[in-house]
Amino acid sequence: MTPGSTLPTFPEQFYWGVATAAYQIEGSPDADGKGKSIWDTYAHIPGKMKNGDTGDVAIDHYRRYKDDVIVMRNMGVKAYRFSISWPRIFPNGIGEPNPKGVDFYSRLVDELLKAGIEPFATLYHWDLPQALQDKGGWQSRDTAQAFADYASLIAERLGDRVKHFVTLNELQNFVDMGHRGTTLQVQGKEVRIKLAPGLQLSPGQVNQVAHHAVLAHGLAVQAMRAKRPSGLQIGPADALFTGVPVVDTPENVRAAEIATRTYNERFLDVMLTGRYSDAYLQAAGPAAPKFTDADLRAIGSPLDFVGVNIYIPKSYVEASDDAKGFREVPTSLSHPKMGSPWHSFSPEVLYWGPRLLNSLWKPKAIYITESGCAADDAVTPDGRVLDTDRVMYLRAVMSNLHRAISEGVPVKGNFVWSAFDNLEWTGGYGTRFGLVHVDFKTQKRTPKLSAAWFREASRRNAIV
Ligand code: FCB
Repeated sequence: MTPGSTLPTFPEQFYWGVATAAYQIEGSPDADGKGKSIWDTYAHIPGKMKNGDTGDVAIDHYRRYKDDVIVMRNMGVKAYRFSISWPRIFPNGIGEPNPKGVDFYSRLVDELLKAGIEPFATLYHWDLPQALQDKGGWQSRDTAQAFADYASLIAERLGDRVKHFVTLNELQNFVDMGHRGTTLQVQGKEVRIKLAPGLQLSPGQVNQVAHHAVLAHGLAVQAMRAKRPSGLQIGPADALFTGVPVVDTPENVRAAEIATRTYNERFLDVMLTGRYSDAYLQAAGPAAPKFTDADLRAIGSPLDFVGVNIYIPKSYVEASDDAKGFREVPTSLSHPKMGSPWHSFSPEVLYWGPRLLNSLWKPKAIYITESGCAADDAVTPDGRVLDTDRVMYLRAVMSNLHRAISEGVPVKGNFVWSAFDNLEWTGGYGTRFGLVHVDFKTQKRTPKLSAAWFREASRRNAIV
C-alpha cells in the first residue's frame, strides 16, 4: 500500500470552501453611494464594541478584493461564500438600485470565476439598511417584501454567473441576539451576546420578528425562482442548534432528535416543513406570531439545499420520560485554546448536526456554510503564524463530517469560517478566525499554517 493511500477522502465535487461576510471585511462604508446599515450605526454607539472597534476599514476588502481572490486561489479554495451588502445595492433598502454597488459584486464574481472558485452569494448577513430599521426593521412585515425585491434584482443581475444563493445567515441568531440578547452557558460561565440593532423586545414581538425573517426567506425564494425559473440553487444558512446525545444509545439519539427539532422550531423546522409545530404554538400561547396560510406556503418553498452553520452543540442531551422528551446534561467543557468566549471544543457536533438534520428533515443536499474556530495566532519573529490548534480543530471537524457522509448524509461542501481574520462583530478584531492572518494596521495578509493544511487537503480531497 502506498503511504497516504488510506486517507479518508471526500466525494468528487466536494466543495472545500471558505466564508466571509460584508460588514466583517469590506470597509468603505460610504463608497460609491452605499447607504448606512444597522451595523454602521450600532458599531459607533459607545460601549457596544470591544475596544471601540468598527467595520469602517475592516480588512479593506472592498478595495483589495482582486488580491484577496488570488490569496484564496493560491490556498486551494474551491468555493467562496461571501455576502452582499444590501445597502450597497439599495441605499434606502427599497427604490432604485445603486449601479455602482451592483457592479462591485459583479466584478468580484468575475474575478472568482477567473480563479476557478465557485461563488456562493449570501443575500443577508445581518447588515440591514438603516433606512429600513428606521421604519421598524424586522418588526415590520414590509421588510420581508423589501428583501424579496432585493433578492429578485440580485438574481437578475448576478444569476447568470452565480449559481448558489444563500438567502439569510443565521436567522436564529440575528433574530434573538439582535432583538433581545442571548445568554449562553459556556465553560461554566455566562456569556451574553448582543447584535445590532440591539433591541430589547417582548417574547411576542421577538416571535413576530422571527416570523418576518422566515417569511423574507420564503418570499425571496419565490421571487428568485420567478426571475430565473431554472439553474439557481437556493437555500438558507441557519445556525443549526443541535442536541448531541451525550452517549450514543438509541434512546439518547431519539432524545437528540426531539431536542434538535425543538431548538429549531421557529426557523429550520418551519422552513423545511411549511408549518409551525403544535408544540411551539401551544408553548408560545399569546406570544405566538401572527401569520397566514399563504405565509406558510412561501416559507415552506422547496429548497435545493440546506446550509447550516455549526460551531458548538446547543447542549448534550439524554433520554427522559417527561413530556419534553429529552433532558439537557450540564457540562463543564473546556479547552484552553478556543479563542472565542462562546466556543467549546466539541467537533462531534459536525457529525451529529448533519446526521440529525438529515433524519429530521431529509434535505436534498446539505452545506456546512460555516464551521471554524478562533485561536491564539501569534506571529513568529520570522513572520509565520503556526496555528496548530486550528489545524487540529479542522482535522477533527472534517473527520466528523466524513463520518456523516460515509453513513449517507448528503453533505456537499464545507465552508471554513473564515478566509481572513476579520471583525468578529461586537467581539472586535481580537478574535481571529481566519486561515489567513491579517495585520490590521498594514493590511498585510499572511496565510497561516492552517491555510497550508487547507490547500493540501483540498488538493487531495482528503483529510491530511
Ligand atoms: C457566526 C457568524 C459569522 C462569524 C462566526 C464566528 O455566528 O455567522 O459572521 O462571526 O459566527
